[in-house]
Amino acid sequence: MDVQSTRKTPDPVVRVEHLAKRFRRRDGSTVHAIDDVSFEVHAGDFVVLLGPSGCGKTTLLRSIAGLETPDQGTISFGDRVQFCARRDINVPPERRGISMVFQSYALWPHMTAFRNVSYPLESRRSGRKHKPTIASRVREALELVGIPELEQQYAAQMSGGQQQRVALARALVSNDSLVLFDEPLSNVDAKVREQLRIELLALQRELGFAAIFVTHDQSEAMQLGSRIAVLQEGRVAQLASPLDVYTKPASRYVAKFIGTMNEVFGRVTAIKAETAVVDTVLGELTGRIGAESVAVGDRVAAMWRPESATVSTSDPVAANRLRGELKASLFVGTHTEQVVHVDGRDVHVLVPGADVLGSGSDVWVEVSDVDMLVLPAEDA
Ligand SMILES: Nc1ncnc2c1ncn2[C@@H]1O[C@H](COP(=O)(O)OP(=O)(O)OP(=O)(O)O)[C@@H](O)[C@H]1O
Ligand SMILES: [Mg+2]
Repeated sequence: MDVQSTRKTPDPVVRVEHLAKRFRRRDGSTVHAIDDVSFEVHAGDFVVLLGPSGCGKTTLLRSIAGLETPDQGTISFGDRVQFCARRDINVPPERRGISMVFQSYALWPHMTAFRNVSYPLESRRSGRKHKPTIASRVREALELVGIPELEQQYAAQMSGGQQQRVALARALVSNDSLVLFDEPLSNVDAKVREQLRIELLALQRELGFAAIFVTHDQSEAMQLGSRIAVLQEGRVAQLASPLDVYTKPASRYVAKFIGTMNEVFGRVTAIKAETAVVDTVLGELTGRIGAESVAVGDRVAAMWRPESATVSTSDPVAANRLRGELKASLFVGTHTEQVVHVDGRDVHVLVPGADVLGSGSDVWVEVSDVDMLVLPAEDA
């Protein structure tokens, strides 16, 4: 046996197995905040937990941090079990060796930036002998997040963006291999948020920590994530790269949550290999069968992205053709957003650059069968 095959693959930075957490509401009802969740985070991974309000993002993150006690399941970091309901293991948060950044910054307002950042180092080590190292590491962290000049400034006297940089420095200063983020950028304005996203990614690459980042903002998830976990009522609906989540959504829920989708419901009348023919109110549509299998007779949604469609005035060639009237053409610089009225419904089309067609034109909306996605209609 060669050396290669006997070498043990490294443990993931985080392994979550069959995690569940229920809360009892005051009216006596039970909420399944986390419902049988399993996933792994590897070294250098940037996993984004994405989902609507109340889907369990914060509960999952707080459970990993040790701030919440799940009812079932296991959480391990590397080869160390941090939580196991069955074996009654629950390592307290301060001994899990991770850092966390909160939406609310959670800084001490009457402490300077320096003191806010040095605090976790001082509380983890004892005595004075480390003081010089602490000071240089704090300065290095403030330098990293681009605010060395604010070292002696009180947190209460800083802008939101500056405070969030201090919070970031405080999370990075311990040099932990895992950093957790709970919507850290939602309190800063759009420009600063954009800037901080770029810097955060650069810092993560430079320092090499694994990140779990909670957001309900889908474009933030697409920009930051090496993988995105789309959560739905406490469950992982899909965990995949941003590209796969966007182009191969596992369900209608995921497809609708990420980006914009046109959709029309109908029944499957025929299946040929990977393609389904769907009878809809807009006529027959042919599309690629999505991640879940569908059968003849099933009620499904035929879905397509605005940027996958084109608009033409004559001789349609694509597998799917919809006749309609161009209602609006909105030029926004990089592209033009078009709305076509098809049989009483608005169909959205996005074309690059400026559009030459005038409103009121009779047009064809065209979508190829590869860009048309057929997914189970679920509860719709
Ligand atoms: N301490 C608690 N007691 C009772 N119910 C709770 C508690 N904490 C959370 N929940 C419930 O658990 C569910 C998940 O909450 P959680 O805070 O994890 O959602 P979230 O995805 O972070 O939402 P948001 O985007 O609004 O922050 C919600 O229905 C919430 O009401
Ligand atoms: Mg939350």
